[in-house]
Amino acid sequence: MENSIGIIGGGQLGRMLAFAAMQMGFRITVIDPTPNSPAGQVAHKQIVADFTDEDAIMSVAQKCRYVTFEIELANAKVLDALAERGVSVQPSPQTLSILQDKWRQKTFLSNCRIAIPRFELAHDNAELLLQALQKFGGPIVVKARFGAYDGRGNYVVRDKNDISGALEKLHGKSLYVEEFVPFKHELAVIAAKSIQGEVSLYPVVQTVQQNNICHLVIAPAPIETNVLDQAKELAQNAMEQLEGAGVFGIEMFETEDGQVLVNEIAPRVHNSGHFTIEACRTSQFEQHIRAITGMPLGSTKMLVPAAVMVNILGNRTGGARITGVTEALASEGTSIHIYGKEETRPERKMGHITVTAGNLEDAMQRAQCAREKIGI
Ligand SMILES: Nc1ncnc2c1ncn2[C@@H]1O[C@H](COP(=O)(O)OP(=O)(O)O)[C@@H](O)[C@H]1O
Ligand SMILES: [Mg+2]
Repeated sequence: MENSIGIIGGGQLGRMLAFAAMQMGFRITVIDPTPNSPAGQVAHKQIVADFTDEDAIMSVAQKCRYVTFEIELANAKVLDALAERGVSVQPSPQTLSILQDKWRQKTFLSNCRIAIPRFELAHDNAELLLQALQKFGGPIVVKARFGAYDGRGNYVVRDKNDISGALEKLHGKSLYVEEFVPFKHELAVIAAKSIQGEVSLYPVVQTVQQNNICHLVIAPAPIETNVLDQAKELAQNAMEQLEGAGVFGIEMFETEDGQVLVNEIAPRVHNSGHFTIEACRTSQFEQHIRAITGMPLGSTKMLVPAAVMVNILGNRTGGARITGVTEALASEGTSIHIYGKEETRPERKMGHITVTAGNLEDAMQRAQCAREKIGI
């Protein structure tokens, strides 16, 4: 009981959290609706139930001293009830409820005076979307407030002809709109906060999205010092204002004129922090476990000059079959992570590759070369 952690969500993030926690001697129970989930395969126990299932969450809380989550869809209300009964739930359910609603999150950040794109609430209504388009005076992104990931809840509306497409794709969802930011780069900062409120940041990274999905993470971000400083300051400010302990992923845009805006904050370990497993003194997963169990945070320093992470995304539908690992590993400084998902689908995150090297050019070249060798 004292050394047990319940994780809500059994995907790859839960799996890598479980690996880190088990190394530190914790017993892990995972809740996920898919039997034999990526995290369930490596945890001591998986409860097969929905992330929001009250009974399942309650039963985990009876066995576990600590409860955390790897998805924003977790049930903030039930977690709140657990916290009231004395279970340590981190990050705090209050923070989860702010961040899991993208519109509420933007309102919160704006109240904290954190630089973000202009935004406003929207309805599933063509006339109102047209008004928003006119008001912002340029392309807008229509976004689902809840439960979106990998761009599934987004639709870019460049002119009035795109409105019907947005309404079709996002039908039935609560929506908000924000201005389209013609960014120069996308950046991310993995940040951690301890139970005592100490904040620690990993080096700023550049992320490259294709089709709204993270493909590549470049660490450290090869950008100007002034931009790096803005990113760190935004991350530090945001973390100071968010209650609760744990690792958070903060996504940002660098605009054409070198200004940094926060895109979104996830109250969990994040794809843009996978490089920390091989490249940093403390991985984001170990850091999260340290943070939520009241231990001191570890050093976030990079141990190597450069690292590149490439996602292994599915490109067909069917049973997963991994090939090419032997060939990919022949390249120096290459590590491969496979998530154990039985079924592959186009653009599903099936694994990732991290390459560490003496400089970014070598890391990038080897990472791309390794990725070409892998089939899934
Ligand atoms: N306001 C915006 N302007 C331009 N591109 C955007 C904007 N919002 C999102 N995007 C692009 O879409 C990607 C996914 O959007 P995001 O809001 O982060 O949703 P998700 O929750 O699916 O990650 C971003 O990483 C970025 O590439
Ligand atoms: Mg995102």
